[in-house]
Amino acid sequence: MKIQDLKMKFTEIFGEGDEPCIYFAPGRVNLIGDHTDYNGGHVFPCALTLGTYALARRRSDQLLKLYSENFSSRGVFNSSLDDIEYTTEAEWTNYPKGVIWTFCKKGYPITSGMDIFFYGDIPGGAGLSSSAAIEVVTGLVLKDLFKLEDITLEKIALMGQYSENHFNGMNCGIMDQFTSAMGKEGHAIFLDTNTLEYEHVPVSLKNISILITNSKVKHSLISSAYNDRRKECEKGLNMLQKMIDINSLGDLNNEQFERYKILISDEILQKRVKHAVSENRRTVHALDALRADDIQEFGRLMNKSHLSLRDDFEASCDEVDLLVKTAWELPGVIGSRMTGGGFGGCTVSLVKKRNRNLFKSKLTAVYQEAFGLLPEFYEVEIGGGAKKISDPA
Ligand code: GLA
Repeated sequence: MKIQDLKMKFTEIFGEGDEPCIYFAPGRVNLIGDHTDYNGGHVFPCALTLGTYALARRRSDQLLKLYSENFSSRGVFNSSLDDIEYTTEAEWTNYPKGVIWTFCKKGYPITSGMDIFFYGDIPGGAGLSSSAAIEVVTGLVLKDLFKLEDITLEKIALMGQYSENHFNGMNCGIMDQFTSAMGKEGHAIFLDTNTLEYEHVPVSLKNISILITNSKVKHSLISSAYNDRRKECEKGLNMLQKMIDINSLGDLNNEQFERYKILISDEILQKRVKHAVSENRRTVHALDALRADDIQEFGRLMNKSHLSLRDDFEASCDEVDLLVKTAWELPGVIGSRMTGGGFGGCTVSLVKKRNRNLFKSKLTAVYQEAFGLLPEFYEVEIGGGAKKISDPA
C-alpha cells in the first residue's frame, strides 16, 4: 500500500486533525544462529524490506486509539493510558500496549493519548518477526512524539524485548527486536548477544537468492514450547556452573562441551545444551566463511544448523523438515534450514537464481502431496532498520 493511501485511511479511521507522522520497522530473517540469543551466543540475521508502518499523532486527552489495517474487521481498540494491562480481548494491541507500559515503567512518561494506525506487509504468524516490528515501530513513535532524546534504537530494541517478556509472556531473546531496530540495507548483523556488540556484514550474493519458504503451519503452544526450551537451557547451564566457571552457554566451545557434558545428568538437557553450544560455533564459522567468500561452506553450516535444531533442540516439525530435506536434494541449493523460533514457520534457503523456479515447483509439489498444503515463497532483499519516514506535510 502506498504512503498516500495509508494517510487517507488514517483520516478515514481517526478523522481530520493534525497530520500523522509516519514510521517503519522491518521484519527479519535469521541466516544462522537460532536459539542462541538467550544463551549468550551469536546470531546472524538480516532485516527485510517487508515490515510494519505506523502513522501516529498525539491526542489532547488520555485515550489510546489503536487500529490495524491488517485486522480491519476488528475496528479501533480504545483504551486509557491510565489503565494499560494485558488482556486476551486486546488481541494484537497487546504488542503496542506492552511497549507503552514498558516506557512508563522505565521512567519515560507518556503524557498524552495517541491515535496510531498500523499496516504491515510481513506475512503474519510465519516467524518473520511481525510482532517485533510492531514493538519497535511503537518504540520509535513514542521516542519521536514525546521527544525522548536519550532513547536510542538499541534501547528501543531492549524495551521491545522487555515488553514481550514481561507484558506478553514470551521469554524471547533480543535477536528479533535488535534486527528490526538496527538492520542495514545489504548487510546482515553479526550480533554477540552476550555483550550486544555487533557488526554489519555486507552480504552480496550475486547470482544467489535468499528464498524464504512459509510452511503455513503454526503449531499450537509455540510460546510455551519456546519457554520450555529456554528453561531447559538454563537448567543445563546451572548444572555446568556447579563445576565450571561460565556465565552462559555461549562461553563454551564444542571441545569443552564434550569434556563437561557428563555434568549434565539428563540426556534431553544435554542435547539442548549441545545445540546451543554447537550452533554458536557454527554461527561464528559462518561469518568467517562469508568473509572468505566461501558461500558453499556457509551453506553447509546452514544445513548442519537445521540438523541440530531438528535432532538436538527438537524445535522443528515434520512439515518444515520435509521442505528442508527436499531443498537439500535440488540443484543450485547452497543451504537450507528452518529459521527463527521453529515449531512451524519458515525455512530460509540460499538458491542459485537460475534454479529458483525448479525449487519452487518441486517444493510445492512434494509438500502438497505430503501435507495437502501450499507453501508460500518470498524472495527477499535485505532492508534497513527502523526509521521515521515523514513528518506532516
Ligand atoms: C524467536 C525469538 C528470538 C530467538 C529465535 C530463535 O524468534 O523471538 O529471540 O530466540 O526465536 O533463534
